[in-house]
Amino acid sequence: MTKVLEQLAEEYDNKTPQEIIEYAFKNYKNIAISFSGAEDVVLIDMAKRIRKSFAVFILDTGRLHSETYQFVDRVREFYGIDVNVYSPDTGELEKFVREKGFFSFYKDGHTGCCNVRKVEPLRRALAGLDAWITGQRRDQSPNTRAFVPVVQIDPTFGNGKLIKFNPLSKWTSAQVWQYIRVNNVPYNRLHERGFVSIGCEPCTRAVLPGQHEREGRWWWEDAMKKECGLHAGNVKG
Ligand code: ADX
Ligand code: SF4
Repeated sequence: MTKVLEQLAEEYDNKTPQEIIEYAFKNYKNIAISFSGAEDVVLIDMAKRIRKSFAVFILDTGRLHSETYQFVDRVREFYGIDVNVYSPDTGELEKFVREKGFFSFYKDGHTGCCNVRKVEPLRRALAGLDAWITGQRRDQSPNTRAFVPVVQIDPTFGNGKLIKFNPLSKWTSAQVWQYIRVNNVPYNRLHERGFVSIGCEPCTRAVLPGQHEREGRWWWEDAMKKECGLHAGNVKG
């Protein structure tokens, strides 16, 4: 399986994101797009031009910006799609905040909170899927995403059986934004206020001109560790 996927990744390395999505839809029935509520909306726009209906999910950490929640509703209406929303497990979350409070990540790192609010819900979102599609790009993080292939066996979830497509892997931020403008794709209003990479509200901030987009995420932490668990397989060793 690994070898077959490596060959496929090589073959599709120079294909367009649309061709990659088309391949993914054609070959995997149980597949979903993971939508973070940011510029990865281009995946939904591309998918909609390929087929009428497809599955989309968002992990609602409970800590997203109000603008992001509004944007998700706008996307739902604009494209006429359902968005499956996965929330943290109530019991786990109540235990976590009882013991740690609401802002423990500033003191002891984001892993614990991300595990409860993102990773556990992601496990449920992925259960029963053969493949998922993400908006990861190589240029999002020179430290952790420089080698993200267009398709891979998920290195973290699915016990070697889950396929992960990253159709935008080789696109730059400029290409994504050109696509958004040319195609009049709706976007999260936070982008108008200096936010580039958007995650949870307390762990995301706007960046200055020339700053790398990843500097706006978990800015108090080491750049090599800036993966929240969804894409932990990008972090080696
Ligand atoms: S993160 O792991 O650091 O938070 P990032 O914000 O760069 O990820 O987004 C990369 C891709 O991960 C997105 O395009 C999307 O496919 C997926 N993703 C990230 N956050 C979410 C979320 N809250 N819900 C669903 N998918 C997400
Ligand atoms: Fe918690 Fe921040 Fe991770 Fe969101 S990004 S789940 S608020 S640590």
